[in-house]
Parts: sequence; C-alpha cells; structure tokens
Amino acid sequence: KKVVLAYSGGLDTSVILKWLQTEYGCEVVTFTADLGQGEELEPAREKALLLGIKPENIFIDDLREEFVRDYVFPMMRANALYEGLYLLGTSIARPLIAKRQIEIAALVGADAVSHGATGKGNDQVRFELGYYALNPDIRVIAPWREWDLTSRTKLIEFAEAHQIPISKDKRGEAPFSTDANLLHTSSEGQVLEDPWEEVPDYVYSRTVNPEDAPDQPETITIDFERGDGVAVNGEALSPAALLAKLNDLGRAHGIGRLDLVENRFVGMKSRGMYETPGGTIYAVAHRAIEQLTLDRGAAHLKDELAVRYAELVYNGFWFSPEREMLQAAVDHSQAKVGGTVRLKLYKGQAIVTGRKSPHSLYSEKVVTFEDDQGAYDQRDAAGFIKLNALRLRLLGRRDR
Ligand code: ARG
Ligand code: SIN
Repeated sequence: KKVVLAYSGGLDTSVILKWLQTEYGCEVVTFTADLGQGEELEPAREKALLLGIKPENIFIDDLREEFVRDYVFPMMRANALYEGLYLLGTSIARPLIAKRQIEIAALVGADAVSHGATGKGNDQVRFELGYYALNPDIRVIAPWREWDLTSRTKLIEFAEAHQIPISKDKRGEAPFSTDANLLHTSSEGQVLEDPWEEVPDYVYSRTVNPEDAPDQPETITIDFERGDGVAVNGEALSPAALLAKLNDLGRAHGIGRLDLVENRFVGMKSRGMYETPGGTIYAVAHRAIEQLTLDRGAAHLKDELAVRYAELVYNGFWFSPEREMLQAAVDHSQAKVGGTVRLKLYKGQAIVTGRKSPHSLYSEKVVTFEDDQGAYDQRDAAGFIKLNALRLRLLGRRDR
C-alpha cells in the first residue's frame, strides 16, 4: 500500500508520516508544495529523509505561478469575499494541493492520499472534495479523525518515541494553527479562541502594525488586462511576481489585517486572524477598474454571483460544475476590464485615487453638471420618474 501525504515538514505532518508507516504499514510518499509560504522547503526534504522516506518518494514542487494564475486571479475576477470580508486565502489553495496530490498518486501508483487537517475544520472538506472529484476511487486517510493522539502532550510523546525532531517552541503550550501562502497567512486557535481578546502582536507575521507604518503615503499604479493584474508601477510582472510585489508594499503599510468570526462549513463558528497584504490591495484595485469598465447590469449580477462563488470556494467545491459555470460567466464579463488604477497606501489602507481605461464607459460629457451641449436631455427624467412612481402613488392613495 502506498499513500501520498501532503507534508509541510512541521511537527503535525511528521507525526502523521510516522503514524501512517507504523499504524497502516504504508509506504509513504511526501508532497510539499511551495505556494509562497515563505519557508525554506529543503528542511522538509531533510526531515522526510530522516524519517525514512526514499529520495524518489519525496516530491517538492514550486506551484507559485500556477497558484496565482489559475486559482487566485480567477477568484479575484469574481470579487469573491466570504461573509463580506474574508479573501479566502486558505480556501483557494486547498484544491491545488489536492490536484497535485492526485497527480502524484497516479505517477507513483499510490492508492491513497492523506492530509493533516483536523476533523473539526473546513480544510478536510476542501482536500477531500478535491481528491474525490479528481479520482473517484481514491482512498483517503485523515489521521486526525482516526488516531488517539487527542492532545498536544500525546502528540509530543509520540514524536519523542519515534525520534521525530521537535523544535523548542513546539514543546510548550499548543501553538496557534497557521496556514500561509502567497495570498495570506491565517492564524486560529490558542490565544485567539476568545473572540473578545485582542489579537496579540506576536501573532502577526507579514504586516507591520498600521500604527507604526510610515507617515508618508506611497502612491502606486496597477495595470489590468482582461480582469487580471499585469503590471505594478508600469513594470510588467508574472502573476506570482505581481502578488509578491504587492505583498511587499502591503506589508510596509500594514495593509490587509482582518480579525474575523466566521461560520465554518461543518457548522461551528471560529475566530481567526488573517493577513492578506497584497491581495487586499489587489481586490480594491480590481473593483476600481471594474467601476469604469463594467456595465451596471453586468456589475450587479456579478455582485450577486460573488456571494455564491465565495461560498463554493469556502466550502471546497472548486472542482464542481457550478463553480465552473460561475467562472465562465465571470470570465466573460472581464473582456474589457483593463486599464490602470492608482492607489495611495497609507497606514493600513489602500485608497483608490484614480483610474483610467481605453474601455471606459464613463462619459464626462454625459455626467457633467456643466453645459453638456445636448448629450443628455434632462426632460427625459420626468417621465422616467413618473412611471417608476406610479405604483408608489397608487399604494400611497390606497393606504392614506
Ligand atoms: N478559517 C480559514 C478557512 O477556513 C483558515 C483555515 C486555516 N487553516 C489552517 N490549517 N490553519 O479558510
Ligand atoms: C483544521 O481544522 O485543520 C484547520 C481549520 C480548518 O480547516 O477550518
């Protein structure tokens, strides 16, 4: 039996690795994805080797460009926000990890896949819906739902008994749970579990405190083509490079912090803290270029679809016909979403200060309060209002 494990190199997935070997007697293949989490990945290889994984069974893939180009950008085209605020940084990464795991399983002839998500969260659902969508016959092993390592202490005891190296900071109290990639870092658990307690400074890892951000604003531009960012400050960048660039800018100005209580798919509420520096700037800018280039009907329909789209991504239905249908509609809407947005970055805020586009629908000639030289006949508005008022007047007369 062979199993492909989504392996971060951290304590939890190292324990899972050993547990799969000992409890299941499986040959373990590890897969570690570089999604721009900003960690060295070679230590994961070293650790896998140390835990007895054969070199040919260690997969480490740089998925950064694919992640941003094929997952983050398509989602951003939809302006997806879960419960009005969450930019879905963890949710959007899971389907890609699942896809690559299934590919590797086919490559090495594995009949099972495994992940380190708990039985209480969203991630288990996202991983496994991805697995089953891409390989209906795959076997899934979710150790957190099976084993009896139900406390931090037991986990550490297991690690010690099996010579799994444990970094010093992992020995003390259970650490809060984090997940990081090019789009965001999320933190949940431990000190964050009381939603009234303010998030302590040490939980933040990729933005400066807005209170300590520079007193001077920084002005930038982002160019869009067909709904996707293509350049920052006039410099053409690949999707991953563009997001990384915006992350640097966002970090310096303390942009994209979010303290949120959200509804997990499994039914419970959880409190988390997110840092999405570049993604926050990007989302603001994408909205700004749509303001100029999208027709009202298309824009408002998009706003309705965005809620559904976000829920699908959050709940793990990336590889579903309904998400693909929404994507087709969203992508169709983006044909003329191009141009340049100018923003000011200042103490936690990304503030739009200008936008222009060769595909603009904005007509100064029509909208001006000065003499419009016949571009718009104000008398037309009288009948427009009267007919719209008709039913309100009939109601008013009846109920007077
Ligand atoms: N609550 C967020 C989500 O469901 C973040 C989950 C973070 N995952 C983690 N393993 N720490 O998308
Ligand atoms: C987990 O349960 O493993 C993390 C949190 C989540 O998936 O929602």
